[in-house]
Formats: sequence, C-alpha cells, structure tokens
Amino acid sequence: MEQWFLATLLVFIFMPLIRCSSLDQASLLRSFLANKDYKLNDEWAVSYVDLRTEADDLGSMESDLIKDNLPGQPSEIGFKHYAGYVTVDDFKGRNLFYYFVESALLDPVSKPVVLWLNGGPGCSSLGIGAFVEHGPFGVQSDGSTLYLRRHSWNRVANILYVESPAGVGFSYSKTTSDYNTTGDLRTAQDSYVFLINWFKRFSQFKNNDFYIAGESYAGFYIPELADLIIHNNLHAHSSSKIKLKGVMVGNGMMDLKIDRRGLYLYLWSHALISVGTYKGLAKNCLDFKEKCYVYEDLLAKEIGNINMYNLYSEDCSSIHKHGAIDPCEKNYVNSYLNLPGVQTALHANRTQLPYPWSFCSFGTNSSWRDHPSSMLPFYRRLIAAGVRILVYRYCHFLMMYNLFVTRN
Ligand SMILES: *[C@@H]1O[C@H](CO)[C@@H](O)[C@H](O)[C@H]1NC(C)=O
Ligand SMILES: *[C@@H]1O[C@H](CO)[C@@H](O)[C@H](O)[C@H]1NC(C)=O
Ligand SMILES: *[C@@H]1O[C@H](CO)[C@@H](O)[C@H](O)[C@H]1NC(C)=O
Repeated sequence: MEQWFLATLLVFIFMPLIRCSSLDQASLLRSFLANKDYKLNDEWAVSYVDLRTEADDLGSMESDLIKDNLPGQPSEIGFKHYAGYVTVDDFKGRNLFYYFVESALLDPVSKPVVLWLNGGPGCSSLGIGAFVEHGPFGVQSDGSTLYLRRHSWNRVANILYVESPAGVGFSYSKTTSDYNTTGDLRTAQDSYVFLINWFKRFSQFKNNDFYIAGESYAGFYIPELADLIIHNNLHAHSSSKIKLKGVMVGNGMMDLKIDRRGLYLYLWSHALISVGTYKGLAKNCLDFKEKCYVYEDLLAKEIGNINMYNLYSEDCSSIHKHGAIDPCEKNYVNSYLNLPGVQTALHANRTQLPYPWSFCSFGTNSSWRDHPSSMLPFYRRLIAAGVRILVYRYCHFLMMYNLFVTRN
C-alpha cells in the first residue's frame, strides 16, 4: 500500500451524510479522489461473504406499475414503466429504489435487461441516467412537464435504473448509521441482493440476457458487481442464477494510477493546465508525494469553472446558450423529482424522508469505507468467465480517459 494511503487512514474521519444537489458526478468524483480519506481494499473481491438474499420483500410487479402516467407526461408512450422499492436488508431496513422502463418496440420480453448505474460515489441513476441522459423522458424548462427523448435507450432494451447505495436519491436505510459506513463492498452486495429480489418480482425477465452499464465511478461498481454475480452463480441454486452476458463502462474509473496519468495528460494536451503544472503533477502525484496537494490546487485553479461533461459547450451559468443540449436541464430534473405528485406516481419516498431528493448524496467528506485500487484483476476474471466487455469514452468529457488502457 502506498504510504499516503496509510497516512490518510490515520486522519480517516466520519462525516455525516452531505446532500449536494449542486454537485455533479464528475466534480464529485474529482473531489472524492483528491480528498483521499478512503480506505483501499484490494482483498475484498476474493473474500465474499455468503449473502442472505431472502429479504422479506413484499412488493409486486402489479403494484409497481406506473398506471396513471407520470405528471406532465406525454400520453401514448407505447411502453410500460414501473417504479418502487426492493428491500435488500430486512434487519437494517435498507431499501433501494428503482425505475424500470420496458423496451418501446416489439416484445419487451424478447429484449435484454440492462442495469444502469451512475457514479459519484453517491449519485442518482434515476436523476442523471434516466432523466438527464438516456431514459425515455426529459424534463422541460418549466420543471414540471416531460418530453419524449428521441434516442432513449429503451428503444433497444429494457432499462433498469437503480439508485444505489442506500442514501442516494429515494433509496434509504432505516438504520441511518448505514450512511456512515457505506463503501464499494456493501454497494456490490446490496446490488446483488437487489437483483435477486427484483428478478423474483419481474420473473418473466429472469431468463433474458442481462447487462450492466454505467459511467464514471460506476467504472468500479460494474466490474465489482459482475464479479460478485459470477462468483455467486457458481454457488447459487439454478433458480437464482443471473444471466450476466456483458458489461459496458463509459468514461469510467479503471485504476487509480492509470486514471490519474490519463487525466493529467488529457488536461495538458487540451491546454487546460500549464506545462509546469503538468510536470509537477506527473512528478508528485502518480506516486504520491506531499507536494501533490500543491499541484492539485493549481490544477483546480487553472481549469476553472468549465462544463466537465462537455468541454466545448456552455455550462448552465453561461449567458448565451445554443446547441441541442440545454446545460441547465439538471435544474429542471431536480425540480421535477421533488414534486410531491411525481413522487407519489413513482411510488417513491413512501417513508417521508426528512430531506429533499438530490442528484448526489455522499459529500466529498463522506466516510466512504472501501474500494479497490484497480479494476484490472476484476477484468481478468470477467474475461476468463466469458463476459463481454465494452469500455468506451467520450473524449470531450473531462473525467476518466484511461488513455493508457484504451491504447493497449
Ligand atoms: C455519522 O457520523 C457523524 C460524524 O461522526 C455523526 O455526527 C453522525 O451522528 C453519524 N450518524 C449516524 C446516524 O450515526
Ligand atoms: C419526502 O417527502 C417529504 C414530505 O413530503 C419531503 O419533505 C421530502 O423532501 C421528500 N424527500 C425526498 C428524498 O424526496
Ligand atoms: C470538507 O473537508 C475540508 C477539508 O478537510 C473542509 O475544508 C471542508 O469545510 C469540509 N466540507 C464540509 C461540507 O464539511
């Protein structure tokens, strides 16, 4: 273990759950990594505990069906959609919220099921994935009506958006101290239990091909969950095997050191940081030296306030906005998902959570408990198990280029 991780372990502090609607997953991830108050765990993947998957789950597909449309939704949408909670831990009372959209064309049962996960850690797949990125609906600038998205992913597959882990969006735990002890391992375990129970509820999809897709910090969640599924499939009763076919990771984390190298090269080659800063980062941050903090600060100052999702477009604060994508759409989604009528239609917030819905929940000071340093060993196991893998990146997105990996 590199010595700076040991050093930061000593100052490992538990901070309360911080809600940050203004943060997006890219800037949250950057601060998360810069903060370094996390615990590396490169052992967990080989020491799974047996999971109790029989959560006393009372939901049903019929009761999760969104019968009377979402408020402000166009009529005649041509597909069914569902939303609700799945209990993943009875004892602690952890419940994950999902939104499931059936494929719009032809027979949904003949199409694959794709689980979509956003990053953070702690950002909402419902808010970002479904409503900003590729779900069937986007939110209009009034914050209360929806439009149909032309290139929605549910044109080709059934998409399952899950807010994970508990504490994100509408997902919650009755044991709120859970929010102080969340990390990658429990996120993977809870997601696995979620899937077992979800497929019981939606049993007609159980034999469909299953894929896991996502972006950013989900570059860690996805191989971790896939690895857990493969491991547990070996031991599972045939009725609870998950038919995992492939994974798809966009602009995702891959390996702390490789990602950092990729980031610095990218920033420098796009003239976002100076040569001096680039050299300082390369020298002090790849193998961490105390001076790294100085250069990380310089980096933040030099890149300034830009749209991390789309380097060459405006962000929401720009005065002149043009182009097909409204950089303020996140604000409309935030208003929409906080409307009481929308929450009722989504079967969400049934316990009257004492805080508003927000895009990202765990602040950069949160006590995220653990994560491995690299996904490469996971990918090796996935390749060996015959899982199909697509790792892609959008090159105007200011996070996670893994230049090193994609070139090899
Ligand atoms: C989480 O940790 C913070 C900081 O130590 C503490 O103030 C808070 O009470 C904890 N929350 C719970 C629910 O244990
Ligand atoms: C849940 O509902 C309560 C009461 O209506 C509301 O104050 C709160 O903001 C909501 N929380 C979330 C996470 O939606
Ligand atoms: C997070 O931690 C940093 C430094 O440790 C501190 O300056 C900052 O105020 C903290 N933010 C919150 C919201 O607690």
